Amino acid sequence: MPAVPHEVTIEINGSRRTVTVEARRLLVHLIREDLGLTGTHVGCDTSQCGACTVEIDGQAVKSCTVLAVMADGTSITTIEGVAGGGGLDRVQAAFQDHHALQCGFCTPGMVMGVRNLLKENANPSEREIRHGLAGNICRCTGYHNIVRAVESLASKGDVA
Ligand code: FES
Ligand code: FES
Repeated sequence: MPAVPHEVTIEINGSRRTVTVEARRLLVHLIREDLGLTGTHVGCDTSQCGACTVEIDGQAVKSCTVLAVMADGTSITTIEGVAGGGGLDRVQAAFQDHHALQCGFCTPGMVMGVRNLLKENANPSEREIRHGLAGNICRCTGYHNIVRAVESLASKGDVA
């Protein structure tokens, strides 16, 4: 039986886009393949690594756990949309300052996770940072510098 196409309209990084998808298409594949925003990564496809994290209506969500049709009518921010004026946003800058990335594969999802963490808790302790980022897996940094980067923002009382 042929797949029934569905029309999905989203606002992504400030642009309104309409895409026709199959009902089974995942949001992460719409973002990467249909819209060409490849900063959102696929690490596990099983909701464990956090590499695919985006913000849907301001909330961090693993986009491999969401069907594209479920995102119809929402506003999405991907890593390409966080910097606004073209420079780094403050979470990205803190990662750079504290050498918080090595291969960088996890970094987009990690940045989205940190933004969410700081929205919920502007001044997290180290324990709260580690707990808050438990859903984002980095296979190469050992997390130490990532935690230091987040602490540098927490100590300033910044809210992402
Ligand atoms: S690819 Fe989505 S959590 Fe790993
Ligand atoms: S920097 Fe390589 S997986 Fe995190």
